[in-house]
This record gives sequence, C-alpha cells and structure tokens, in this order.
Amino acid sequence: MAGKIDSVIKASPELMELLNQAIAREVQVSIQYMWQHVQWGGVKGFATKDAFQSIAIEEMKHAEMIAERLYYLGGIPTTKPTPIFVGESLKEMVKQDIKDEANAITLYKKIIDKARKEGDETTNHLFREILRQEEDHHDTFSTLFEDL
Ligand SMILES: [Fe+2]
Ligand SMILES: [Fe+2]
Repeated sequence: MAGKIDSVIKASPELMELLNQAIAREVQVSIQYMWQHVQWGGVKGFATKDAFQSIAIEEMKHAEMIAERLYYLGGIPTTKPTPIFVGESLKEMVKQDIKDEANAITLYKKIIDKARKEGDETTNHLFREILRQEEDHHDTFSTLFEDL
C-alpha cells in the first residue's frame, strides 16, 4: 500500500489509537491460540486443537490488514500485544478465548461506528468484514465449550 505521505484520508488520533488497540489484541490472540494449539491435552482436545490453529492464522491476517490500514493513515503499528493468557486446561483456554472474541466484537463495533462518523469507508468496510469473522470465532469457541 502507498506510503503515509500520500494518504488522502485523514483519520483522527482517536481512530488511529483504536486501530492500534485492535492490532495489539490481534497479535495477542494469534500467539495465544497458536500456543493453545501446541499445549492442548485430553481426548476432547482433538476437536479443539485444529480450531486453535486455523483461527490463530486468521487473527494473524487480521493484524496484518489492520496494520496496513493504520500505516496508510499515517500511524505506526504497535509491536506490543495485550496480555496473553494460554491457560492450563482446555476448559480454561476456551473460556478465555470466548471472552477475547467478545471483546473484539465490542471494540470492532466501536471502530466501525467511529470510522463511519469520520467518513472513512475503507476502515468501515475492513472492520465489517473482520467483525463477521470474529463473530464466527465466538460461535466456534462457544460451541466447543459446550462439550468440554
Ligand atoms: Fe481477529
Ligand atoms: Fe477472533
């Protein structure tokens, strides 16, 4: 994507801060889910381990897309993840992940609202697409949790 000097759209500092919060949590969950994929245990883990891995990869793609957008708008993407919680039992892991997906849904709705108010259609559309996937993740983890 083009460098920040040429950016046509001006985002507010608040919107850019929200994008960095989003990046921090995307980096957090990509590591969190991948280490859960490595550390799963128990017979019931067979269904869960693949979900951890495929969702971790989607989260990494989200981090990249949001970072591209933030950089285009003139911001510098953070390298610091929000606190990572792997958990010890499968139940503990999935319970945490449901919470993290719910937080994503709340934050991304806020970003969609803010982007819309600032006339930033691209950020708006980007987060609508990501939000759809976060709802999917939330649904997957919630369904898996029922059998744990
Ligand atoms: Fe994500
Ligand atoms: Fe997610």
